[in-house]
Amino acid sequence: MDVFELSSKRFTTKHYDPSRKISPDDMGKLKEILRLTPSSVNSQPWHFIIGSSDKAKKLIRPAIMDFNWPRTDDCSHFVVLCIKEDLDESHLNAVTAQENADGRFPNEQIKEEGDSKRKWYVSMKRERGQLRSWATHQVYIAMASLLYGAASLGIQSTAIEGYNPSKLDAILSLREKGLRSVAIVTLGYGALDDSNASRKKSRLPAETLFTELD
Ligand SMILES: Cc1cc2nc3c(=O)[nH]c(=O)nc-3n(C[C@H](O)[C@H](O)[C@H](O)COP(=O)(O)O)c2cc1C
Repeated sequence: MDVFELSSKRFTTKHYDPSRKISPDDMGKLKEILRLTPSSVNSQPWHFIIGSSDKAKKLIRPAIMDFNWPRTDDCSHFVVLCIKEDLDESHLNAVTAQENADGRFPNEQIKEEGDSKRKWYVSMKRERGQLRSWATHQVYIAMASLLYGAASLGIQSTAIEGYNPSKLDAILSLREKGLRSVAIVTLGYGALDDSNASRKKSRLPAETLFTELD
């Protein structure tokens, strides 16, 4: 299925079949899709926490709004998408070292320039108090990659903002790890009676969305 077809066919799953589990092979692909998400200045300001056991689902439950329990209780896997609270020197050095190891720099000078431009851009965001909101925008790109990547593998999903972030962050001790949760995505296979499966997709018409400049 190409991306055009995927975008018209994918839909949010409201009820999962708890007996169906995503294979390790497909989870590996979804993790790779998350890892390959593009981000501003390749900052990769994220961390992803994955759970699939009953224990993990019970752990996060108190932070989930009750209308979302059918998603988090019955999904195969959930992913908590987090931002890094600060993009400190060691994170930025690790990004440059990885780019170097991956062969992105033809020479040392280009490496130095890339490194200092990224550090300058990040410090500008920090000085303006925009670091967290900027990181959050990047994480939403990862979320979209995950939703479409899952659909491409025949896996259904739910983006979830309906939870209490400070409660979840406390349960998962995220502050201690320099992280904050931004959203959750549940993944799995829809129940036969999933309430959303038979609903028509609905979006505002194109003429209200696009302005074509002369
Ligand atoms: C950022 C985001 C947060 C969402 N939060 C929830 C949620 O907490 N619970 C839920 O059931 N659906 C949630 N949704 C699903 C939307 O309601 C759904 O995407 C929208 O109604 C469009 O329907 P479709 O995805 O089936 O095309 C969320 C979607 C997005 C993109």
